[in-house]
Amino acid sequence: MSDTRRAIAREMARKYIDAGDPLGWFEALYSLAGGDTSIIPWADLAPNPNVVEWLDRQGPAAPGSALKVGCGLGDDAEELARRGFQTTAFDISATAIERCKVRFPGSEVAYLVADLFSAPKTWGGRFDLVLESYTLQVLPPGLRAAAVESIAGFVAPGGTLLVVARGREPEDPEGKMPWPLIREELEPFEGRGLKRISFEDYMDHEDPPARRFRATYRKVH
Ligand SMILES: C[S@@+](CC[C@H](N)C(=O)[O-])C[C@H]1O[C@@H](n2cnc3c(N)ncnc32)[C@H](O)[C@@H]1O
Repeated sequence: MSDTRRAIAREMARKYIDAGDPLGWFEALYSLAGGDTSIIPWADLAPNPNVVEWLDRQGPAAPGSALKVGCGLGDDAEELARRGFQTTAFDISATAIERCKVRFPGSEVAYLVADLFSAPKTWGGRFDLVLESYTLQVLPPGLRAAAVESIAGFVAPGGTLLVVARGREPEDPEGKMPWPLIREELEPFEGRGLKRISFEDYMDHEDPPARRFRATYRKVH
């Protein structure tokens, strides 16, 4: 993905964060884009290959309920539903959720507008699979610990959490949005009743390749 495609989103993110509203730019960006998704840097209009690869590796285990955090335009949620998961997907942007419904009429996914930081209480401990891909990396570092706590809370006993994010070393510069995470930012998942099952640190197949962290957790208590 080119930096040109990211320029508008980066400028918008900076403006909103500087104004003390670090979540406001998502709706502003989707709403500015309207039907033209080319200015939304993450809108590939296809399921995330890092997620698909992971799902393919899981084999034919019986799917249950799934929750997609920050679903954007819905491609990952649709992929989960296609694989048999009873899928709920949410995003803070009402326009994004509206676009999901337009793109996938008759979808079996329950699309909802919700804020990760004030999610419905009924979602606590409810989902067999929780998928977090690329939301943490668009939140300023100061919000990530609270986001981790909220995401961990959605996983049912015995359930699985998959997290996919850009990665960097602590001594590397923070960079520009999407801001890569340091591995330590994922560690609090393990303090929330989740056991780390796997952790991958790899270069993906994007051009140019991006460093990714892909971590799997199981809710043990
Ligand atoms: C980088 S995008 C990734 C979207 C999608 N997962 C994908 O890979 O195409 C992050 C998404 O998280 C949403 N988001 C950001 N903060 C959120 C919050 N507090 N609650 C719910 N969704 C949020 C944004 O609106 C955006 O759609």
